[in-house]
Amino acid sequence: MTVQYKFPEGFWWGSAASATQTEGAANKDGKGKNIWDYWYETEPNRFYEGVGPETTSDFYHHYKEDIQLMKEIGHNTFRLSISWSRLIPGGRGEVNHEAVKFYNNVIDELIANGIEPFVNLYHFDMPYELQEEGGWESRSVVDAYTMYAREAFRLFGDRVSKWFTFNEPIVPVEGGYLYDFHYPNIVDGRRAVQVAYHTMIAHAQAVEAFRASGMRDGKIGIILNLTPSYPRSQHPADIKASRIADLFFNRSFLDPAVLGEYPEELIEILKEYGQLPITENGDKELVKANTVDILGVNYYQPRRVKAKEHLPNPYSPFMPDWFFDNYEMPGRKMNPYRGWEIYEKGIYDIMINLKENYGNIESFVSENGMGVQDEARFLENGEIQDDYRIEFIQGHLKWLHKSIQEGCNAKGYHLWTFMDNWSWMNGYKNRYGFFSVDLETKKRTPKKSAHWIKEVSENNGF
Ligand code: BG6
Repeated sequence: MTVQYKFPEGFWWGSAASATQTEGAANKDGKGKNIWDYWYETEPNRFYEGVGPETTSDFYHHYKEDIQLMKEIGHNTFRLSISWSRLIPGGRGEVNHEAVKFYNNVIDELIANGIEPFVNLYHFDMPYELQEEGGWESRSVVDAYTMYAREAFRLFGDRVSKWFTFNEPIVPVEGGYLYDFHYPNIVDGRRAVQVAYHTMIAHAQAVEAFRASGMRDGKIGIILNLTPSYPRSQHPADIKASRIADLFFNRSFLDPAVLGEYPEELIEILKEYGQLPITENGDKELVKANTVDILGVNYYQPRRVKAKEHLPNPYSPFMPDWFFDNYEMPGRKMNPYRGWEIYEKGIYDIMINLKENYGNIESFVSENGMGVQDEARFLENGEIQDDYRIEFIQGHLKWLHKSIQEGCNAKGYHLWTFMDNWSWMNGYKNRYGFFSVDLETKKRTPKKSAHWIKEVSENNGF
């Protein structure tokens, strides 16, 4: 086979998943409740087809089998998250020994099979008790998170060398405090700003704790869903709208995490509208001193933006949307099975931006993938013929390859996700995996893309 797109030696091939979405055993072996368990208990109808976080592929009991499958399809890396409420039920205090045993087993099994574990500490799953205490609005929760991070480094840091503090920290801000798709379903821009700010402080404290732990060979980073912002036209009003969307949804985390400071223009906007968060002495220095070693980039789709057509009602709560409108660009390529735009070049634009404006930080694609509704319709001879997914991955890999050729520091590609999983309010609506799973029998079945990625990883290209 001729390999036209060859990736650098040691490229990371793998996939990503998160604890709540795969583990199951939500009430087992001492795990505490997180906001998803609580929300599902109280409002099951909010969830697609009424399916909650207990219904998963049960990675908790099937991790050995899954790791064999990862090995079979050529993974050399895999990202998982630790469930905070499993490791420390209630969010602070005693460590749960059953959880330590479980994560030790998973990490050891991955390493024994030649798969490097990338461990993320927080993937949307606040322990319920800490949410009651105010969640990310509360500074005491920031300190509880730092203690949790410190415990995780201490327990697993002898074997894990790639750590991540948060996955998509902007999403709980959007979902929980602006657009009503995460608990606690508050719509209040001021509180959203505070939550985002505290998340950043929690991140910086965890980075500081990591460095103090003496894991000199380890790297610590954050995983951001970078959504490149493209203006409708070159008209200054469209360009300004697009720049502001970029400030709110990308640079609000990217700049402090990588450069150690917030963009001046974002601070000015928040100041002008009286929305600056409450801060403490020393915060600025903390953020400045604790920039990341590595950045995970989740990329699904771009944001198309146009200037605001109608001025917002000044009495409505402050929202980023006061400054721009989303633009449905005619003719854009859409994923017909999920309703998101497919724009492969976005991955290249992100990488070039990181090279030019963020010191060419070491990075990798930490999530990219194609969600498909009713994917069973593509079943033929017992296998899902997901040629559309192969084409999707290939399209993105070509642009990633080009960025590397041009000197970008991209080290790997992780698909979202290894196996179809429970996706928050969307339940099992959109399927993303290399494998499907029968939720009754827990039988795992490879899709066509699983065989394809095996070849790609073995050839280090395609
Ligand atoms: C990513 C999240 O942004 O999107 C995942 O990190 C999530 O946790 C994925 O499952 C897919 O989302 P959806 O809504 O298409 O199922």
